[in-house]
This record gives sequence, C-alpha cells and structure tokens, in this order.
Amino acid sequence: MVMNSKGGCGKSTLSTNIACYFAREGYKTALADYDPQRTGLDWLAARPEDLPKITGVAAYDEGLRNAPRDTEVLVIDAPARTHGSELNELVRRAETILVPVLPSRST
Ligand SMILES: Nc1ncnc2c1ncn2[C@@H]1O[C@H](COP(=O)(O)OP(=O)(O)OP(=O)(O)O)[C@@H](O)[C@H]1O
Ligand SMILES: [Mg+2]
Repeated sequence: MVMNSKGGCGKSTLSTNIACYFAREGYKTALADYDPQRTGLDWLAARPEDLPKITGVAAYDEGLRNAPRDTEVLVIDAPARTHGSELNELVRRAETILVPVLPSRST
C-alpha cells in the first residue's frame, strides 16, 4: 500500500509504477484505487491493452470485494487525508506500506 496523508506527494505515481513492475514480472496484479479522484483507474483506462494486464479495483466505492480471487500482487493507492478509523482499516490490510515523500527545495 502506498500511503501518506499529505496530498500530491506521489502516491498514485508510485502505485502505478509498482503495479507495472509486478505485471511485467508476470504476477497477476491488481491496482486498488481508494481515492475517489480515480487517478489510478483513469491511468489504467488510458493504458494500452497490449501491455501486461493490471486489473483495476474501484476500492473507494466497493472496497476490495471485486478484486480477482487469483490476484498475486495487490497494490493499494490510498487517498490523501486518510486518518482515524479509515486509516486503521487500510493499514490492517497491508503487508507493506510505502510512504512517498517528494523532496522539495526550501526557499
Ligand atoms: N518522483 C517524482 N518526481 C517528480 N515529480 C513527481 C514524482 N512523483 C510524482 N510526481 C508528480 O507530483 C504530482 C503529484 O503526484 P501524484 O498524483 O502521484 O501524487 P498523489 O500523492 O497521488 O496525489 P493525491 O494526494 O492528489 O492523490 C504529479 O504531477 C506527479 O507527476
Ligand atoms: Mg493520488
């Protein structure tokens, strides 16, 4: 799972790249988008169909229940501003959590 409550720090960019990596390695890969902005799902919709398959899961709407049963790698793109019980619920599901931090120059 890629998570940081801060917005715009690269969660979706990292999630999509990780999903690509595992799909190219031959794993049955799904990308679960918990963000109603649907960045990951929109990206998947624009992705050419001849590339290694990544299944999109509209997790912001329906959770993980529609993730294919045979999924080997599930990448979760968490939304910004996640906190409280929602944060607990997401963290509980994750085997590995990545927290991207875009470096910025202090001025
Ligand atoms: N490693 C990087 N280096 C430079 N720019 C990056 C990097 N990763 C992401 N970006 C850029 O930062 C912006 C935000 O990235 P992204 O949409 O992945 O963040 P996010 O954390 O998913 O945002 P949100 O909180 O809105 O979901 C985009 O313009 C993206 O191209
Ligand atoms: Mg995002």
